[in-house]
Amino acid sequence: MRGPIYDVLIFGTGLAGLRAALEISMRTRGAANIGLVSKVQVMRSHSVCAEGGTGAVMRPEEGDTLELHAWDTVKGSDFLADQDVVDRFVEAAPNEIRLLEHWGVPWSRREDGRIMQRPFGGHSFPRACMAADKTGFFEMQALYDTLQKYTNCTRYDECFVTSLLLDDGRFAGLTVYDLPTGEFLVLRAKALLIGSGGLGNLYGFTTYSQTVTGDGQAIAYRAGLALEDPEFLQFHPTGLVPSGILMTEGCRGEGGYLRNNRGERFMEKYAPKMMELAPRDIVSRSEMTEILEGRGFRGAEGLDSIELDLTHLGGERINKRLPLIREVCMKFLGIDPIARPIPIRPVAHYSMGGIEADIDGRTRVENIWAAGEVACHSLHGANRLGCNSTAECLVWGGIAGSGIAKYLETRPTPAEASERKLGDEEGRIFAGLLEQRGTENPSQIRRELRTLMDKHAGVYRNGKSMQEGLDKIAELKQCAKQIEVADKSRIYNTNLVQTLETENMLGLAEVLLTAGLKREESRGAHARTDFPARDDQRFLAHTMAYWAAGAPEIKYKPVTITNWKPVERKY
Ligand code: FUM
Repeated sequence: MRGPIYDVLIFGTGLAGLRAALEISMRTRGAANIGLVSKVQVMRSHSVCAEGGTGAVMRPEEGDTLELHAWDTVKGSDFLADQDVVDRFVEAAPNEIRLLEHWGVPWSRREDGRIMQRPFGGHSFPRACMAADKTGFFEMQALYDTLQKYTNCTRYDECFVTSLLLDDGRFAGLTVYDLPTGEFLVLRAKALLIGSGGLGNLYGFTTYSQTVTGDGQAIAYRAGLALEDPEFLQFHPTGLVPSGILMTEGCRGEGGYLRNNRGERFMEKYAPKMMELAPRDIVSRSEMTEILEGRGFRGAEGLDSIELDLTHLGGERINKRLPLIREVCMKFLGIDPIARPIPIRPVAHYSMGGIEADIDGRTRVENIWAAGEVACHSLHGANRLGCNSTAECLVWGGIAGSGIAKYLETRPTPAEASERKLGDEEGRIFAGLLEQRGTENPSQIRRELRTLMDKHAGVYRNGKSMQEGLDKIAELKQCAKQIEVADKSRIYNTNLVQTLETENMLGLAEVLLTAGLKREESRGAHARTDFPARDDQRFLAHTMAYWAAGAPEIKYKPVTITNWKPVERKY
């Protein structure tokens, strides 16, 4: 069925998507018709899980500076961040905090009433503005509530986007499986913003919600847009064992320690100045080294662990600043962190790469923008600093929203969505996938994929292991051709959605490993045991991955360096 034509479609309703919707609504005084498309209900977007804080320079009078925030970000990125992009980010972030303040975020406060900021990894000044340890939830709530002032948004909740249609190089429409009705829709618009989040469910041990399967990256990639820097997958140092639930960096920001099985604060050896608050790539590698050399704790489900010790912080501080952490530990493990250390280990947490987008959030297709984790603005380079992600979602939600509002002033006409392409896509899904007979089920393929990614694309990698991972993915892609969708109905067919997600995940896993194999160096989160050094001669460059006859084609583009030449990172 053909759906209506909007001014703008926003695919993804997390922080970036809602922030953009608000910016467009404000700038057009509610005149732009916006379609908000999400595979979940708005307040179930993964952004609600963000815990520790949003980074911004809020206290120049106490010594913080934009330049310092920029330097921390560039150094943290292992010099792969584009420095003009970093400058724009640090300049814009403080205003986002003030806007959220006006829109109602209940920031944690200092004694003097000002917004509290806690230390975060790799930052040389306390910069994480926080609402206890539920920052993402409150930010989402404030954006959602504020958006209710406008009547120009139509929601497509629980709608799974299957493909992105282009016509003559312009965005023409999204094809969408509407789960509650079982209908197949085409939604058209003059402009598209993709803000659909990350891809962390490629991994088994992950902080992500089950819904985060990289659908935005996958449809953009298949439509011909480039995926930039896909090999840089961040491992957060503190995932609860065995579930993987995020134990916020705020735990260490509040003063928590990491200890090995000898009771040592081992970060002394690896980052003597910043200790537990070194950047995530360094802390995660340090933990893995301790575990691999036998100084971890025997962990549940074969996951050896390190201890995150908060016991010295005291009940009052934990209850006030880390209430969610305490609740999760008690409910999931029966451990009260006031009294006992928490078992943790590095966990898949964030994708530094994504759909190539420029400093204004524009992709190479004139009427498509991307913002938030789905995008790669080249802000985080090879390793993102904690609390720069929610800030990025807000900053580029605002920038892209403003760009789209300006674009609409040029009175663009919507491109045509060809009937043939629509028919092909509907046929692929309902006559093809839904009806096909086979021997495989998507859950099993997904489970195997996640296990192989944990094994072959982890904190430490090497060429042989990544190649093995790619060989297994090739086998799984063959198996995926034999999937039988057990549920044959049209309404709420989660089995069908899982099949479509699995297809997306297989493609993205292949891109990640192919790009990783070609990058023969170690930089940021890409740590190769067979190429342990950074190689600026060959690889001070962004990876660009293109869909080419079903397999990724890898190219490179230069990094923008304005202020700081690469130097050795020491913390
Ligand atoms: O540790 C955390 O609260 C995560 C923050 C982030 O990824 O920026």
